[in-house]
Amino acid sequence: MSQISTPSGKGTIANRGYTFAPRMAKTPKSFIREILKVTERPEIISFAGGLPSPDLIDVDGIRTAATSVLEQDGRCALQYSTTEGYLPLRQFIADRYKKRLNLSISPDEILITNGSQQCLDLIGKVLIGVGDDIAIERPGYLGAIQAFSLYEPVFHPVPLEKDGPEINVLDKTCRSCPLRLFYGVPNSQNPSGITYSDKKRREVASIMREYGVLFVEDDAYGELHFSGSPKPSLQTYLPGQTIITGSFSKILAPGLRMGWVVAPPAIMEQLVVAKQATDLHSNYLSQRIAYEYLLKNDIDSKIRKIRTAYQQQRDTMIRALEQDFSETVSYTHPCGGMFVWVMLPAGCSSMEVFRQALKENVAVLPGIPFYIDGGGIDTMRLNYTNSTSDSIKTGMDRLARVIRHICSQ
Ligand SMILES: Cc1ncc(COP(=O)(O)O)c(C=O)c1O
Repeated sequence: MSQISTPSGKGTIANRGYTFAPRMAKTPKSFIREILKVTERPEIISFAGGLPSPDLIDVDGIRTAATSVLEQDGRCALQYSTTEGYLPLRQFIADRYKKRLNLSISPDEILITNGSQQCLDLIGKVLIGVGDDIAIERPGYLGAIQAFSLYEPVFHPVPLEKDGPEINVLDKTCRSCPLRLFYGVPNSQNPSGITYSDKKRREVASIMREYGVLFVEDDAYGELHFSGSPKPSLQTYLPGQTIITGSFSKILAPGLRMGWVVAPPAIMEQLVVAKQATDLHSNYLSQRIAYEYLLKNDIDSKIRKIRTAYQQQRDTMIRALEQDFSETVSYTHPCGGMFVWVMLPAGCSSMEVFRQALKENVAVLPGIPFYIDGGGIDTMRLNYTNSTSDSIKTGMDRLARVIRHICSQ
């Protein structure tokens, strides 16, 4: 048991008689997890979560891969392994960067992590000291706000416009303080669904270069663009100054907890030390199963299937917004990923929408926790990947009624 606190102890927080490290007081509880607990009832149509479609998880394929690994090399696959991760898997990821984005990345620049969420913790551990300045999109990914908060930085929010970060604000922020990094999600951002334009990518890279700031490119949704070719990674314009994080969660299965981080050698060296100290290495059996699956299956065809399904679900949600909501709200048009971002009429509280919609068995996610500096009260995130087209139509119909009712009061 930890030591008993002196309730007014300097630099500590007292909670039920335990003393916690000061960093915990600065780290927000995941509001989303709290809300999801409420919305788990089967009768609820939930647009609140962020789960991939369960119908698109290839259980049979993963079972076959797992059986094959355990039968052919079970003793080894269940042993301890290297911190960096299974080399053939890292080679696969490197080859895919070459094929998709024409990036030349060596497997030595890749570290396999426990989901890409762990990358954010490791990056925080290695790069953020107490009181360091870091920039983050506004609204920003809640998981990053949480992960970085543990290292007690000073957050500088950079508002997102429909084509990426507001460049003037980013430039002003860089000029006003020595930023350690700028964290962003250039493809189909969570929560807003926004994708940076090519122009914004070049502008962000140019500012990062001018001020010597690292760009942390969270690419959790990079494979989920609905049409055309993928947009260039920031690494294309900012080599040596970009850290990329990637994930198998949205294209294979989140339960495997397989992600990775790509970093320049000097940063990688530190990330490996931090990873070692954290958990020695990522789940080796999961790594072997993921690799076996990727070897034996056509992952491109699986990803095409996911894109087609999500595009149809997005279309259903956008159609409902156009037909039933257009006078009351504005919203983003995501060209990939899993979320639509809705701006309610001024003065309309998304918490009130959440409460009233829940009475109609529909769950939405209020936008407030995505704003590190407050605000966002009239915004909400809607997820379309975890509901069928029919339930999207039904849920959106109920939601439109709820919002009209609140606005008319
Ligand atoms: C932007 C972003 N980054 C990282 C993650 C973490 O994903 P995982 O740890 O499953 O790879 C998520 C999860 O939804 C996300 O939306």
